Amino acid sequence: MKPLIAGNWKMNGLGEAISEVQSLIAKFDGSAPDDRDVLICPPATLIGRFAAEFADEAIQIGGQDCHAKESGAHTGDISAAMLADAGAAYVIVGHSERRADHDELNADVKAKAEAVLSAGLIPIICVGETEKERKEERALEVVGTQLKESLPETADEFVIAYEPVWAIGTGLTPTLNDIAEMHRFIRSQTREDIRLLYGGSVSPTNAAEILAIDHVNGALVGGASLKADDFHSIVMAAKGA
Ligand code: PGA
Repeated sequence: MKPLIAGNWKMNGLGEAISEVQSLIAKFDGSAPDDRDVLICPPATLIGRFAAEFADEAIQIGGQDCHAKESGAHTGDISAAMLADAGAAYVIVGHSERRADHDELNADVKAKAEAVLSAGLIPIICVGETEKERKEERALEVVGTQLKESLPETADEFVIAYEPVWAIGTGLTPTLNDIAEMHRFIRSQTREDIRLLYGGSVSPTNAAEILAIDHVNGALVGGASLKADDFHSIVMAAKGA
């Protein structure tokens, strides 16, 4: 399976950040290696510009969220069709920051994933337990429920990102055994050809060992995706298809 290394820029990046992507591409000698997929999800304001600028460089551009409806009276929201129109190829849905900051429930996440598919794009559906849930040894149960309730009914292609909430932006990561256990579990709940990403404090230091775990088919990278050097190291740490 071709690994997917996805950068989630969150609410970071002005127009000048284009130079960071240009540096990344320069490190790839002009085009990202074709035995892995490289995706950058910048803020929505940059999607059109990045998609136009980097169309030929084997880097794909994605959105970080979308509305479940195609159009309508939803001030400030963006539909999956609009992201497709701007040049996005993927859309992250159900990130834990969306679930927490905007009270998104599994049913909302599923509706968004289905909207992404209807727009012809690939959803990256995020799941993950909180610190409390892990301490209570409920991680598998919580993620199992999220999967059951957030995944689309039928789809040719989607991606699942396992991101333990307590590992996001904290520098903490689960043990390699815990990641392996969760990814084995998620695989048992979905198809063999669905890519499963790990996310949460992935860095140039830990990327190779995490990406070598069975059923880890890539990474969703936050903080370290903002710097060309770090993101390049993480992309190169993946074993190509
Ligand atoms: P992080 O974020 O790599 O900064 O921990 C990951 C994410 O939220 O997708």
